[in-house]
Amino acid sequence: MIGNAAHRAPAQTPASPSAPARLTPYGLRCEHRETPLGVGEPRPLLSWRLASARAGDDPVAYELEVGGWSSGRIEDPAAIGAVYGGPPLLPRRRYGWRVTVWAEDGAEGSAESWFETGQDVWQASWIAHDPDAVEHVDPPTEGDQALSHHGLLPCPQLRTSFESAAGVTRARLHISAKGLYEARVNGHRVGDAELAPGWTDYRRRIQCQVHDVTPFLLDGENVLAATLADGWWSGFTGFDPRRPGYHYGRFPELIAELHLTFDDGSTRIVATGEGWRTGHGKIRYGDLLKGECHDARAETPGWDLPGFDDSSWRPAVVTGDDHSLLVASRDEPVRALGELLPVSSVLVRPGVHLVDFGQNIAGRVRLAVRDQEPGRRVTVRHGETLDGEDRLHTANLRTADATDVLITAGGAEEVFEPRFTYHGFRYAEVSGLDRLDDIRAVVLHSDTPWTGTFECSDPEVNRLYENIGWGQRGNFVSVPTDCPQRDERLGWLADAQVFLPTACFNADVSAFFSKWMRDVVDAQSPEGGFSNVAPLLTGVADEGAPGWADAGVLVPWHLYRVYGDDRFLDVDSMARWVDFVARHNPDLIWRHRTGPHFADWLAPGPATPREVLATAFFHRSVALAAEAARVRGRHGETERLGALAARIREAFAAAFVGDGGLVEGDTQTGYLLALAFGLLTPEQGRGAAARLAMLVEESGPQTGFLGVNLLCPVLSAYGRADLAHTLLRRTDPPSWLYQVRHGATTVWERWDGVGAASMNSFNHYAFGSIGEWLYSGVAGIDQAPGSVAFREVVICPLPGDLSWASASHESARGLISVSWRNDEEGFRLQTRIPPGATATVHLPGGDTRRVTSGDHIFELVRGEKP
Ligand code: BGC
Repeated sequence: MIGNAAHRAPAQTPASPSAPARLTPYGLRCEHRETPLGVGEPRPLLSWRLASARAGDDPVAYELEVGGWSSGRIEDPAAIGAVYGGPPLLPRRRYGWRVTVWAEDGAEGSAESWFETGQDVWQASWIAHDPDAVEHVDPPTEGDQALSHHGLLPCPQLRTSFESAAGVTRARLHISAKGLYEARVNGHRVGDAELAPGWTDYRRRIQCQVHDVTPFLLDGENVLAATLADGWWSGFTGFDPRRPGYHYGRFPELIAELHLTFDDGSTRIVATGEGWRTGHGKIRYGDLLKGECHDARAETPGWDLPGFDDSSWRPAVVTGDDHSLLVASRDEPVRALGELLPVSSVLVRPGVHLVDFGQNIAGRVRLAVRDQEPGRRVTVRHGETLDGEDRLHTANLRTADATDVLITAGGAEEVFEPRFTYHGFRYAEVSGLDRLDDIRAVVLHSDTPWTGTFECSDPEVNRLYENIGWGQRGNFVSVPTDCPQRDERLGWLADAQVFLPTACFNADVSAFFSKWMRDVVDAQSPEGGFSNVAPLLTGVADEGAPGWADAGVLVPWHLYRVYGDDRFLDVDSMARWVDFVARHNPDLIWRHRTGPHFADWLAPGPATPREVLATAFFHRSVALAAEAARVRGRHGETERLGALAARIREAFAAAFVGDGGLVEGDTQTGYLLALAFGLLTPEQGRGAAARLAMLVEESGPQTGFLGVNLLCPVLSAYGRADLAHTLLRRTDPPSWLYQVRHGATTVWERWDGVGAASMNSFNHYAFGSIGEWLYSGVAGIDQAPGSVAFREVVICPLPGDLSWASASHESARGLISVSWRNDEEGFRLQTRIPPGATATVHLPGGDTRRVTSGDHIFELVRGEKP
């Protein structure tokens, strides 16, 4: 028996001891990024989070000052950001900005940051190594017919030198490539972006980056240089067809402008164009899927420094001066964000070492090789799992060779790290060396600041949580991919859609998805069909799959709710999509194909009828498009789409809903979609939820990708948190902990990890979408249905039979944390709510409290047992 809750403020500040004494903005962002360079948005969004150690210390107003412009004091207690509203911003300028917030008692707090605007007009030309003067290189892997026909291109090096007077006060490099680039100024690597400029549909737009290179400039001769690789542009991309040049282009090209400002105010631009020289160096090829080969003997020392004799190099070919597709980057780039040392390294055959990094990642290996003779061939192959005890399992990579090769130059120490490839792997097999001196795995992923923590009393659930995070890291590589290892790595829309709520708890993915939503809209067909993958590429399954294409509506809606940025809501593109489906299905049952139908992908259980699944998503998309129209003040569309949603709901009920809430097909996913998407009356909902629970009790989870994210949330919303916990803790397949018990370090593509080798990824995050419920259910951090950016927090922990859990989320408004313990003494919960938010706290046993921002403790003392 649990008594009444005692509520008090903690004596000391809990989760974040650094909370300031009074209301203070922090975490300032411009366009969702910290101090970005090269902002392209004419009216950028400037946002902030709030912290205060005092309960109820909420904002009432704010003021933004940008350069010489001020918003004036704006009374808005909900504000955590505003778009710049001053005079047009000038290109290539740094703007300092400050936000001031006022609390109710008049106290004010402020913080400062800055951003820089990007390029308006380009002068540079695209340049390349003459493609007809390149010998294709056959990669050293055996038995790959496709490769022996097509070969791979050596990575071109491009350089120019220029004289500069003394007194450079500011130097900015604006740069992009068709392909991948790595730039250097006077021998210094420029920036820390990997795989830049990232992947977009290059037929539609190419992102460019801006780097501050001021410290690298010299008086006198200077060198601006870059290495290029094929990347997604002209390399092996996706799975079909397997030849370079098919998807976007044939060979890589570079564009760059170095803008110099001198202390006398004068300026100068060094740009790609005539006069650049190109040659080749040690990188014989670098391909995302095939791997990379360095022949260290062909290194061209000093090629990126002044004084290098490039007279034997060729003039670069000017390939064009079309700048129309160049746009400012919206996202943070991929970066090297961690390193792992081996947990074991075994000599499995003479000269062959098998290295286990203990964690499945996306990235590559860095290897130091000491005291070798010239010309030794060292090969690094990668795999996620093993065949037997001592062989890499590579069948699931399909045609991704994922093989890196070093041919040594000889000498005391050579460090080999590929620059233009990445692999999905836990194990590396290194052959060609008698001993391994220094080897480590470099973790690569898009830089999305981590915002979540979760821990509970079950170590296996904690491992699951870790696996979900690693799955996110390994699959957020410029675009949200399905998997990082095989010849696929595509931005499949459904995978992204079901995982997004988990991703948003784990990390600040606002900039990452702001970039990707532009890819999604770019990929929309003229008829309105959202695609199934974005960026789009030739040869990959077109448009319109239910649950996949719908991500064009579901993803921006969720981003808006989490980050509060209504610019995510592109009502016109949403309306084009739903009108497209409606045109093909005038009776509002989505049975006519708008593209392929992937059904409830990889569901182990009975198939959900395709029309049920499709029509449920149709309704969801239309209903959310109507909501989006409401938020954007589009009254006509709100009414039109709202009415359409109501008609689809009626059509769904008439066609598929039977007595007692039975949904046609009687499958878990059918019930989940109908319940979660509001397709049933309250009475039908109760019946459907009871039937869903029976099915789950009978056979555990039977959903594929399209139902799995709803499973635990819907069960708990209908009073069956106990069953959701049973599912979470279940260890028989299909289950999450089955994977954990079988050594998973990421989430598998298939519940049980068993399937055709060609379709069996061990790093596929869709089933990891339970992560959302670890935060929102187990720990209990959620927001109320109509709330945006956590203005109305819901704290509703579901302890099940766990004895404790804690979680935190650095939300768009500020830090939210929960930690609870449930033991013989009772239930104790501690929570932090950010300024500007209120919370409803639901305690076990039904007690509900409304609280202000700040820190709170609740204690329920367990009474005497009768
Ligand atoms: C991918 C999935 C994707 C699916 C479409 C697969 O090859 O790996 O994650 O959503 O195709 O059915």
